[in-house]
Amino acid sequence: MAELDWSNLSFQYRKTEAIIVSYYKDGQWSPLAATKDFDFHFSAFAGVFHYANACFEGLKAFRGADGKIRLFRPDENAKRIRRSGGHLDMAVPSEEMFIEACMMCVRENIEYLPPYGYGASMYLRPVLIGINPQLGIASSTEVLFAVMCAPVGTYSGAKILTPGTAVLARNYDRAAPNGTGAFKIAANYATSLHPYNLAHRQGYRELLFLDPATKTRIDEFGSSNFLAIKGNTYVTPLSDSVLPSITNKTLQTVASDFGMTVEKRVVPVEEIAEFDEVNACGTAVVITPVCSIDDKPTLESTEVTRTYHIPSGDECGKVSRKLYDRIRGIQDGLEEDTHGWCFEL
Ligand code: PLP
Ligand code: COI
Repeated sequence: MAELDWSNLSFQYRKTEAIIVSYYKDGQWSPLAATKDFDFHFSAFAGVFHYANACFEGLKAFRGADGKIRLFRPDENAKRIRRSGGHLDMAVPSEEMFIEACMMCVRENIEYLPPYGYGASMYLRPVLIGINPQLGIASSTEVLFAVMCAPVGTYSGAKILTPGTAVLARNYDRAAPNGTGAFKIAANYATSLHPYNLAHRQGYRELLFLDPATKTRIDEFGSSNFLAIKGNTYVTPLSDSVLPSITNKTLQTVASDFGMTVEKRVVPVEEIAEFDEVNACGTAVVITPVCSIDDKPTLESTEVTRTYHIPSGDECGKVSRKLYDRIRGIQDGLEEDTHGWCFEL
């Protein structure tokens, strides 16, 4: 086992043992291979450097209380990367190949899979990037599929379930109407870098994007989906420009299992004032509570026109904690996996 401070991992790059790679050329993928060489070698004219011919995934592996190793819903990530790559008109791995690559990655880096009990996990980052030399705007004909990993703690670096602040992105969008928001493509994240930097410099943990067409509805955070609790109801935005989150989908099922009403619908910005609990949800952030959301004319402005204080405040809300405990319990093998979400290694 690697000698790491397992209780103090945040979400950052750390070199591990190996990465898994396969190359697509002339209509076929090379066999999946593990390599200790973390440096890629391909043309400076590769499409990825110019036109962002790239998409990626994020999923986690867990060492359970029972000693078993579980990957959480890798079949869903496989389906999503196939949709993202398909949207970029590049070759994509089959579902089976994707899952096998993820399993290989965990096996090859087993020393870095955090022990049970620290709240840590292994984050897997599969990527598909276009590597053939090109000059004009075109989809890639040669593709690199790689899966790498890192042991991680919380995304924010704070203690698990510690609430943070957010700000609305009034004058920036991460996606366009009829754009790529619903795909996990690299370009969406490039768009969010500058507004994120502005928000972070002002001390906000998260940036909340609105629907790009009308700017009147909540879309999602730059790193994760938006989920709110209103009484016994789970509310999450329905929008064409939001990434369909696997965590959100999972939590909706968990909420239904708890007897809650699940509403996936348009969420007007002003409705934030009616929510009891607000969270970011996603693979990296799991469930991360939000304590307040500022509305400003622009991200550059020093003026705050309205602050939405979330009633759960500096504590994680009760319902959110219950949802968190169930999903993490299933991932850790403490709770029965009644929906068959975990893939054992
Ligand atoms: N929204 C965005 C923009 C994301 O980057 C992510 C992370 O993958 C999510 C939502 C959450 O999706 P998932 O739960 O599948 O990780
Ligand atoms: C994830 O939650 O897996 C993400 O990809 C979000 C972010 C770290 C890019």
